[in-house]
Amino acid sequence: MQNQWDAKLYDRNHTFVSELATDLIEILAPQAGDCATRSTGGDRILDLGCGTGDLTNKIASQGVEVVGIDSATTMIEQARNKYPHLHFEVLDARNLQYKEEFDAVFSNAALHWITEPEKVIFGVHQALKSGGRFVAEFGGKGNVKAIITALYQALENAGYPVNTISNPWYFPSIAEYGNLLEKHGLQLTFATLFDRPTRLEEREKGVQNWLRMFANSFLDTFSSEQQARIISDVENQLRPVLYQNGVWFADYRRIRIVAVK
Ligand code: BEZ
Repeated sequence: MQNQWDAKLYDRNHTFVSELATDLIEILAPQAGDCATRSTGGDRILDLGCGTGDLTNKIASQGVEVVGIDSATTMIEQARNKYPHLHFEVLDARNLQYKEEFDAVFSNAALHWITEPEKVIFGVHQALKSGGRFVAEFGGKGNVKAIITALYQALENAGYPVNTISNPWYFPSIAEYGNLLEKHGLQLTFATLFDRPTRLEEREKGVQNWLRMFANSFLDTFSSEQQARIISDVENQLRPVLYQNGVWFADYRRIRIVAVK
């Protein structure tokens, strides 16, 4: 599904995804090399699920070497167009082949798309040098709960058997994810789970755009008329809780972790 993402639409309507991650880069604290030459000794960082490369670029601007990877070809094409001086690769995070090459692995708003977390963590551990750090933020337990509840209800209202729906997202608790990290040799040194209600762009169209961009796998078997009805049902259910003064909010809840090899 991710390979079909419209990278230009993503950049137009979802700038908040990278804007909200500025303090995650502060936690990453990229270490530049020699201040005078910036040529030796700095961090080498893997940006896992880099999307269209905005955070890869922010990290690189701190004087470190960064490799941005994403499974979506459209996203990587857009990243290469925007930042031709940076290194991007189309890669599946479940099948990383790097061996002790990185001082840090960074990931923002990507890991909730991968429902096989252990494959990712295995590859991250393998990619990190000894003492290297894994700094990540993604959807945690309870993320977009109101949106999901309304969407399932709307699908049921449309006569769709909801027990056959496969949910494409992974939103773990701290305990669950921490256990997986430790099982694979990464020591959890920091973890937090917090609500971050997030303002959606384009005012009245906010939830509709979000659903079309991110929940397409729930909708794409329906005709466009049926989709419009389902979306309108979701909006009606959510308006009392996620709509204020002409603006929609997504009920995001983030898990943020730091782990060390
Ligand atoms: C999130 O950033 O939390 C998210 C984005 C798209 C779908 C689900 C969750």
